[in-house]
Amino acid sequence: MSKMNNSNRIPRAKGIDMAAFYTPKECRRKAQHIVFSAENERIVEEFITILGMKEKFREHDVSIPNKMVMFGPPGTGKTLTASYLAQRLELPLVLVRLDALIHSHLGETGSNVRKLFEYARLNPCVLFLDEFDAIGRTRESNDEVKEMARVVNTLLQCLDEFEGDSILVAATNLETQLDHAIWRRFDTKMTYSMPDEDSRRLYISKLVGSFEQENRLEDYICEHLAGCSYADVEQIVLKAKRKAIIGSTPLQRQLIADAYNEYRPRVLQG
Ligand SMILES: Nc1ncnc2c1ncn2[C@@H]1O[C@H](COP(=O)(O)OP(=O)(O)OP(=O)(O)O)[C@@H](O)[C@H]1O
Ligand SMILES: [Mg+2]
Repeated sequence: MSKMNNSNRIPRAKGIDMAAFYTPKECRRKAQHIVFSAENERIVEEFITILGMKEKFREHDVSIPNKMVMFGPPGTGKTLTASYLAQRLELPLVLVRLDALIHSHLGETGSNVRKLFEYARLNPCVLFLDEFDAIGRTRESNDEVKEMARVVNTLLQCLDEFEGDSILVAATNLETQLDHAIWRRFDTKMTYSMPDEDSRRLYISKLVGSFEQENRLEDYICEHLAGCSYADVEQIVLKAKRKAIIGSTPLQRQLIADAYNEYRPRVLQG
C-alpha cells in the first residue's frame, strides 16, 4: 500500500474519491492503438513539444498552453486522448466525471471543483474533466440555476489561476452548450469526428494485429463498418475475435458480419 499524505490524496466528496487515478503506464496500455486525424495529431504534437520547451518559452516571455478542450461525438477518442497525453507527458491521469460530481451534490460543486484544482496545483497531473458540458447545464428550478451560475464563476476563476506543471483537459459532446466565457479560456481546441476510410483502415489493422485472418479480410471490415465510430469498430472486431477463438478458426467475413448484427451499432446515415 502506498502511503499518501493529505495533499497528494485524491480529494473526496461524501467519502468517495472525486476522480479516478491512472499511472502513465496504465495510460500507455490504454492509448496504444490511438488513431488521430492529421489535424489533431499536429495539434497534440505541438502541445507536447511546447511543454518540453518551457525554459525557452519563459526566456521569450511567451506563455505556454495548458488547457485543452475536445469536442466530438461518442466513441471518437476524446477520453483516450487524455490517456495518450498523460503517457506522453509522463504524468498521472486524474479523471473526473463532472456530471456525476455535479448531480450527486450540486450545492458543493463549487468547493469540489476548487479542491480538484488545488490538488492539480500541488500534484503535477493531467486533470481531465470529462462530460464537461454538465457545467452550465441545469434543470428547471431557480435555485439550481443560481447555484450553477456560481459553479461557472468558480470554474472561470480556477481556469484563470491554473498554472504550474499540471495540464487541464476537458471533453464534451456538445460544443454549442459551452458557456462562451469558459470556452475562450482554453488555449487549445480539438474537434473529433467519426473515422474516415483511411483512419478506419488504420485502426482495423491495429486491432486485427497478427490474429490469423482470411484473405483481404481487413478490406471487408473497413467497408462493412463504414459509419461506425472507433468504439463500435473496436467492439465488433473484438466480438468477432472471440467467435474465432471459440470456433478455432481464423478471423473471417462471416464472423465480422455476425458480430456486427449482434452488436447493432448506431450508424449515422449519409
Ligand atoms: N481515435 C481513436 N483511436 C483508437 N481507438 C479509439 C479512438 N476513439 C475511440 N477508440 C476506442 O473506443 C473506446 C472509447 O473511446 P473514448 O472513450 O475515447 O471515446 P470518447 O470520444 O471519449 O466518447 P464519449 O463521448 O462517449 O466519452 C476507446 O477505449 C478506444 O478503445
Ligand atoms: Mg469520453
